[in-house]
Amino acid sequence: MEILLAGLRAAGEATRLRLLHALGQSDLTVSELTQILGQSQPRISRHLKLMVEAGLLDRHREGAWVFYRLADRGDQGGLVQAIARLIPLDDPEIARDTARLSAIRAERREAASDYFASIAANWHQIRSRHVPEAEVESAILDMLVGVKRDRRLAHVVDLGTGTGRMLEIMAPFADQALGVDQSADMLRIARANLEAFGARHLRVRQGDLYHLALDQASADAVILHQVLHFLDHPAAAIKEAAQLLKPGGAMLIVDFAPHEFEMLRTEQAHRRLGLATSEVSAWCKAAGLGQIETRALEAGGPEQSGEMLTVNLWLARAGNRKPGKPQHG
Ligand SMILES: C[S@@+](CC[C@H](N)C(=O)[O-])C[C@H]1O[C@@H](n2cnc3c(N)ncnc32)[C@H](O)[C@@H]1O
Repeated sequence: MEILLAGLRAAGEATRLRLLHALGQSDLTVSELTQILGQSQPRISRHLKLMVEAGLLDRHREGAWVFYRLADRGDQGGLVQAIARLIPLDDPEIARDTARLSAIRAERREAASDYFASIAANWHQIRSRHVPEAEVESAILDMLVGVKRDRRLAHVVDLGTGTGRMLEIMAPFADQALGVDQSADMLRIARANLEAFGARHLRVRQGDLYHLALDQASADAVILHQVLHFLDHPAAAIKEAAQLLKPGGAMLIVDFAPHEFEMLRTEQAHRRLGLATSEVSAWCKAAGLGQIETRALEAGGPEQSGEMLTVNLWLARAGNRKPGKPQHG
């Protein structure tokens, strides 16, 4: 009872409810929240601090940025999620906040897609500077098709496929593989690569990871390779992606471990400086996935430069829930 009252007291104020509403849409920094609510930074920070102390919000530092998000665990996790759902969307201030948040997200998306458009042609070189790709690709195959490479997958979906490299490596093991990406420039290169590769069972199409117009419960495996660190709401993307999996299907997330290379944010449009296993596990669990397996490929080794980053692979499986209704073809 005391915990519930403390949570309700911490949330019970108009600005705080507006903050909870905005944070229900996206993980955000203080400066973004300041723009959205149109209030001073010290004021916003004070409200945030109070709600962090009450357990309603999680605070997460990454390099120079600090993100706030609704708690999704503990006594206050359920409460704050329920409060955020009850906030009336037709309230004039909430409607204004929603419009400003949409504008900020659109600006961010535009900056990221400008970046992807500008690097599309050189993406192969950029990705190989990050980590030893052969090692990562071999680990991906170990986890999805087994070390003996004897598992066959009927349908694989690669989300944020970029130039389609994941489709190429899955080609010998999949009856069909589909890559989805929002960047027309990336997809142009992907199509050219796949044509050169000569595999007709590999396809790409334009789409948004947050709103996938694909059949639910249709994929044996979904891959998110080096994508989540660009997103402002990775949990929502994982939830959407999980809908694609057949019961027992696997989601493979490959991304950087937490790091301090701020330049990846300023120069390469990264939003997150890597992802922690604890947060990826929580997002997968919230999306109904379980049996999470993690494998870390440590950076280092004499031949690798100091700019190499540790890459983590997380494999999570869909349970035997009822398949959802098909949406689109
Ligand atoms: C770093 S690239 C990774 C490409 C590929 N997975 C690889 O490893 O080569 C990230 C890709 O995610 C795509 N992307 C980012 N946000 C997206 C979204 N909301 N919907 C669809 N694609 C998105 C970008 O266009 C980009 O091609």
